[in-house]
Amino acid sequence: MRGIFISMEGPDGSGKSTQIELLKKYFEDKGTECIITREPGGTRISEAVRAVILNKDYTEMDYMTELLLYASARAQLVSEVILPALEEGKCVISDRFVDSSAVYQGIARGLGVDTVYEINKYATRGRFPDKTFLLDLPAEVGISRKKKQAELDRMEREALDFHERVAAGYREMAERDTERIVRIDATKSVEEIHAAIIEEVEELIK
Ligand code: TYD
Repeated sequence: MRGIFISMEGPDGSGKSTQIELLKKYFEDKGTECIITREPGGTRISEAVRAVILNKDYTEMDYMTELLLYASARAQLVSEVILPALEEGKCVISDRFVDSSAVYQGIARGLGVDTVYEINKYATRGRFPDKTFLLDLPAEVGISRKKKQAELDRMEREALDFHERVAAGYREMAERDTERIVRIDATKSVEEIHAAIIEEVEELIK
């Protein structure tokens, strides 16, 4: 038995969590057990790493340190949660995965996508998602949604031009891998976005 691995990507505030919940419900209605994981986090060790990464006081954090911390949180999540669930035939939906590192650290921080993949081939054990949905949204829309919710973390405090590089970086990644990454207009309604996702998922599980 082999499970299905889906990741949800997009700039901060793109509505990933809402779509993940709806997708989980879709799988469960079909009788497929489904787990949701979030990055960075999802295991107690990864959550501890997350607290270091997003701590707004650590303004001196080196970009390579940041990349390696995300990769270490991911390595623990993959080995402790994702691979075992897939082996049991479950569906795994991850709120962010390796494409977040490619875009935020590789493109927006300028470390290079190749460097990110090199490191992450170890962190992921080579297991990439079967499908990735990119909820595409203009940077300023995402950040203004976030500002309304809660105190901003270290990444969200970055200037608007950083978030613009993120939004553009996601589009670049989607063009590089049109097989796996499906770009969806996240300015549409929740129902329209969900319908677009389901259409792709039905193709995948056919
Ligand atoms: P989170 O609160 O989970 O953001 P969101 O709710 O928008 O998903 O914080 C994760 C932050 O970390 C987010 O700003 C994106 C960033 N990030 C990276 O820079 N690289 C990565 O590899 C991952 C997984 C996240």
